[in-house]
Amino acid sequence: MYRDRLSLLPDTVALRPDKNGAPSLHIGDRDLNQLAAEWGTPLYIYDQRTIDNAVQAYQDALSRHYPGPAGITYAGKASLNLAMARLMAAHGLLLDCTGVGEMHIARTAGVPPAQILLHGVNKSQADLRAGLVQAGTLVVDNLPELARIAQLAQARVSAPALWLRVRPGYAVDTHQFRQTGQHDSKFGMDADECVDAVAYCQRNELRVTGLHFHQGSHFHAAEQVLPALDMVCALIGRLQQELDWWPQVLSPGGGWGIAYHEADLPHQSIEFYVATVAAALAKKLSPHSRPLPRLQPEPGRSLVARAGVAIYRVGTVKHAGGRRWLLLDGGMADNIRPALYQARYSALPVTDPLGRPPVSENAWLAGPYCESGDLLIEDLPLPEIEAGELLAVPVSGAYQLMMASNYNGALRPAVVMLRDGVAQLVQRRETVDDLLLRDIV
Ligand code: LLP
Repeated sequence: MYRDRLSLLPDTVALRPDKNGAPSLHIGDRDLNQLAAEWGTPLYIYDQRTIDNAVQAYQDALSRHYPGPAGITYAGKASLNLAMARLMAAHGLLLDCTGVGEMHIARTAGVPPAQILLHGVNKSQADLRAGLVQAGTLVVDNLPELARIAQLAQARVSAPALWLRVRPGYAVDTHQFRQTGQHDSKFGMDADECVDAVAYCQRNELRVTGLHFHQGSHFHAAEQVLPALDMVCALIGRLQQELDWWPQVLSPGGGWGIAYHEADLPHQSIEFYVATVAAALAKKLSPHSRPLPRLQPEPGRSLVARAGVAIYRVGTVKHAGGRRWLLLDGGMADNIRPALYQARYSALPVTDPLGRPPVSENAWLAGPYCESGDLLIEDLPLPEIEAGELLAVPVSGAYQLMMASNYNGALRPAVVMLRDGVAQLVQRRETVDDLLLRDIV
């Protein structure tokens, strides 16, 4: 339903009069009209309180439902900049970095190595060398990588802890580009390889402390983790029996989904997901009478997506072939997800979002880029919208800017973090000069 769109927005959403007295969307106690006027559009804003609440939801659920120790890793690939790295580190989360680039952001933000975890399916020597110094944990994807780590670690007095990435043989139900757990996926090791890896670590005095699996991203049914948990618990039994090895940490990856569109509501809670995983793990491992491993989920999207809102300005309203086109100042360059995964978003006018009923002709929202695939939202009920109006696209906080490009010379948008009425610019908009930074003149 149209009104439900409001609940897709961050926790602090409110409708308050703008300077002309019209009800307008406020987030983090700030008027979106004013933010757009100050920083231009497209603009990405993040509501810090919504992120804090999501972290708290994971923490509460873990302490309520898991009888053993627990922690959270934030999958930085969902949204990473200095401010986000600092925020997650301040919450005490580990930060999952993919490669030397994300580790550089994390270290520049001051995240201590003990809180950095290095992931990657084909880590370069540069990734591994940096990881040995900058990360407290390396997640090993494959046996050749383990041998390379052993060689690089030889000269070092101390080395990061190692977790093994298990390929459970089960993906979750999501777009196939986001599935990772299936038996023929490029990620991780099967059970036999994991046994070989632990034996290798024991022979080579490498500190292997954990197991990790990740079945895919953006799934909605918590029980889809259970077959993979069964597989991993059977592997733990085997490792105990054959090698007398027991994990200190078990990370069931991330992937918990969210609602992007009012049609996705209601969505199962973070608590429900965590409770399902925690209960199954505790039940399966308790008979071993060994200490329960630390349960360490690794969410990205479910921590940050709903905190983010993209604000666009409608430049042109056009009618073509029976379609109402709203042409925006952003699109596939800042959000490739509709083109890549057919992701379905929703949108609301910033001014008077609920007072005007949708008209009979749905809207097609597209960007300014030279591609017919630059289509942000198809066939969306919206009121009459005029050129110059602002539209807010909820649930824009995960993966959009991380996959943004300079296609057609697009300038990546500014990012603003909001907290209790204070708006802090955390990333400036790119300038045309930024487009030349790598060119040799
Ligand atoms: N852990 C690992 C090892 C991962 O590969 C990922 C995501 C996560 C955790 C976090 O997953 P999340 O909780 O955010 O679903 N570009 C796609 C998503 C790709 C996710 C890649 N890995 C999208 O825009 O939907």
